[in-house]
Amino acid sequence: MLTEQKIIDVLSDIKEPFLHKTLGELNAITEIKIKEEKNHASVKILVAKTGTAEQLQLQTEVVNRIKSVGAETVGIRFSELPEEVLAQFRQAAPENEDKGLLSPNNKTKFIAIASGKGGVGKSTVSVNLAVALARQGKKVGLIDADIYGFSVPDMMGITKRPVVRGERIIPVDRLGVKVISMGFFVEDNAPIIWRGPMLGKMLNSFFNEVEWGELDYLLLDLPPGTGDVALDVHTMLPSCKEIIVTTPHPTAAFVAARAGAMALRTEHEIVGVIENMSYFESKVTGEKEYVFGRGGGEKLADELRTEVLGQLPLQQPDWNDDDFAPSVYEEDHHLGKIYSDIAKKVVETV
Ligand SMILES: Nc1ncnc2c1ncn2[C@@H]1O[C@H](COP(=O)(O)OP(=O)(O)OP(=O)(O)O)[C@@H](O)[C@H]1O
Ligand SMILES: [Mg+2]
Repeated sequence: MLTEQKIIDVLSDIKEPFLHKTLGELNAITEIKIKEEKNHASVKILVAKTGTAEQLQLQTEVVNRIKSVGAETVGIRFSELPEEVLAQFRQAAPENEDKGLLSPNNKTKFIAIASGKGGVGKSTVSVNLAVALARQGKKVGLIDADIYGFSVPDMMGITKRPVVRGERIIPVDRLGVKVISMGFFVEDNAPIIWRGPMLGKMLNSFFNEVEWGELDYLLLDLPPGTGDVALDVHTMLPSCKEIIVTTPHPTAAFVAARAGAMALRTEHEIVGVIENMSYFESKVTGEKEYVFGRGGGEKLADELRTEVLGQLPLQQPDWNDDDFAPSVYEEDHHLGKIYSDIAKKVVETV
C-alpha cells in the first residue's frame, strides 16, 4: 500500500539539481497527499530554481520513483526553497556548477566568428549560423562580443531585454538561440565610452554571470580586426575554435589572414572560412556576377590550411512583418539553405 513514509523514503536521496544536496537534506519534500481509491499521490517539491530544464529532469525522476512504490498517477508541484536555505547552501557549493561555461569539464563548444576588417558580414554569419544550428536541434548561445558596435539584437529583431534573477542574467531566447549583447544594457542607443579594462570585465560577465544552462555551441560575434576583445576571447577561451569570414576580394582575404594568424598564434583551431558576398545572381537570367572579385575565400583557406565552409551570395533576407528579424534568412530561403549546409559541416568538424 502507498504510504507517506514510502514516498519520503523513495525520494529522499534524489539530489536537488542546483545545490547538489538530497531532497531529504534540504527538507524539500512537502505536502504529500495520497488518494487511495484512485491510487494517486501528489507531492510538492522545493528546488533552488523553478521553471528550468533541470526541474523537468527532476520531475521525471520523482514521478518514476513514486510510481515504483505503487502509485498509478502522480501529481507534482514545484516551488522555490526559502531564501535562508538557499543562502546556507549557496556558499557550500559555489564553484561546481555555477562556474559553468568556463569550467574545464564543460562540454560546450566555443566558436568565434572573426574577420580582418569590418563590414564583411561577421554578425550576419554569426546570427544565421546560430539559428541554423538551433534549427538542427542544437542548444545554441550567441554572445555579441562586439561591445562597442553591437548589432545582434537589431539583426535578430529582439525587442525583449534579459531578465535579471538574483545575481544572474537570463539571456534572451530568440529563434531558439540564447542571446546576450551589450545592446541590452544600453539606454536609447547611447554610445559606449568605456576603456579597455571594462571591456574585458564585460566579456567576463557574459561568461560568468549569464545563466546559459546547458549549451552545445556558444558562438561569439567578434568585433572586426585583431584588437583587445579578440585577444581577450583568445585568452579567456583557450579551447575556442574560429570561423573566419571574408569577402572574395584578394585584399580582403589578405587582411582576413591576419585574424587567422592571430587564431593560429593563440592556438585556436580554425574550423574554416566563410566567403560572404561571393557573387550576385541575377533573378532574371540566373547569371552570376562576381562583383567583389573572386577566389578570396579559397586563397585564405589555403593560406590557413583549412577549408571553405560555404559561399554566400549577395541577397537580403525576405521581409517578415509578423516576426521581424531583418537579418535572418528563413529556412527555405536560398541563403537559409546554404547556412544549414554550413551548420552541418560545423557539427561534423567541431
Ligand atoms: N550576403 C549578404 N548579402 C547582402 N547583404 C549582406 C550580406 N552579408 C552581409 N550583408 C549586409 O552587409 C552589412 C554588414 O554586415 P555585418 O554587419 O554582418 O558585417 P560585420 O562584419 O559584422 O560588420 P562589423 O565589422 O561592423 O561588425 C549589413 O548591412 C548586412 O546586412
Ligand atoms: Mg558585426
